[in-house]
Amino acid sequence: MAPPPLPPTRPESADASPRVRPPTAETIAAAAESLRAGDLVAFPTETVYGLGADATNDRAVAGIFEAKGRPSFNPLIVHVSNAAAAAEIVEFDDRARAIAVRFWPGAVTLVLPRAAECPISLLCSAGLPSLAVRVPAHPVAQALLHAVGRPLAAPSANPSGAVSPTTAAHVAEAFGAALPLILDGGPCPIGLESTVLDLTGEQAVLLRPGGITRDEIEATIGPVLLPSAETPVAAPGMLASHYAPSRPVRLDATSVAADEGLLAFGGAPLPGAARTINLSPAGDLREAAANLFSALHALDRSGLRAIAVMTIPETGLGVAINDRLRRAAA
Ligand code: TXA
Ligand code: MG
Repeated sequence: MAPPPLPPTRPESADASPRVRPPTAETIAAAAESLRAGDLVAFPTETVYGLGADATNDRAVAGIFEAKGRPSFNPLIVHVSNAAAAAEIVEFDDRARAIAVRFWPGAVTLVLPRAAECPISLLCSAGLPSLAVRVPAHPVAQALLHAVGRPLAAPSANPSGAVSPTTAAHVAEAFGAALPLILDGGPCPIGLESTVLDLTGEQAVLLRPGGITRDEIEATIGPVLLPSAETPVAAPGMLASHYAPSRPVRLDATSVAADEGLLAFGGAPLPGAARTINLSPAGDLREAAANLFSALHALDRSGLRAIAVMTIPETGLGVAINDRLRRAAA
């Protein structure tokens, strides 16, 4: 499919800094190359600016959490160019198909079960069996997705706890020189995040109000619930029901039993475990974050009595890693 036409080049970007660039064919090609190499690129969508990474690259996705300074791993929205690409990574039902036909490309995100052979990083799901997907309508987002040829994980491009950015200048202010490239597509036409609709259960649940209204969604698929004590899903940002291992998890281990699996960190893994997975032999927290969920899954499935976890420093991405491990141990 041919990419949609690009908007006319704006000769003067909102920010004169070289990393804020107008979305020409050249800058989009450069952005796509950076993304395929595992770097982050901020780009406009019709809702808000997104902080994008190759969603199939664990380390790139870990970089998003690092840049945003999130104290925990919230699941991320994965952006794809059309519904067919979405159907390769999540399982559609009739409701999802109806929403996609009616509103995509557009400002609604669907939370659906991960497909069996889903190539998307487990970090995008923050350990959940579901994945949030969206087809953005913005021509620059569409052009970028076509150029990259891979799904893009992209939360709103703001530091954790700050408001979502609706101009390239907001993104540049928030991230300073830390972000090598920001595609400037002008102000976001909607300026409000996408509506997040959970379709993993029998009842559709509106997890976040946004660009598409509840009425518009109900006109398409019937009644939609709001998150509450009665609904099985937790509200975004309070996902206490994150994937929990079925084996007991023991933190800050200083020794390990012969029938335990060890989640190690750093150059001196404890000896004696039945099986050891080292999150990062080099002691690199970004590498550890990238490996965390697949390591927990692997140790959980290995039939061992318990999972012992070595101490992980409470700095940088270590804060989010430890938050996740404490939930797993609770
Ligand atoms: O408009 C938007 O949606 C923007 C643009 C860039 O697309 N993105 C955005 O992403 O707002 P973010 O990460 O700031 O918000 C994603 C929301 C969060 O509230 C998150 O908890 C929820 O979606 N979410 C993502 N995956 C989920 C999942 N598997 N289950 C439940 N909630 C999920
Ligand atoms: Mg956000």
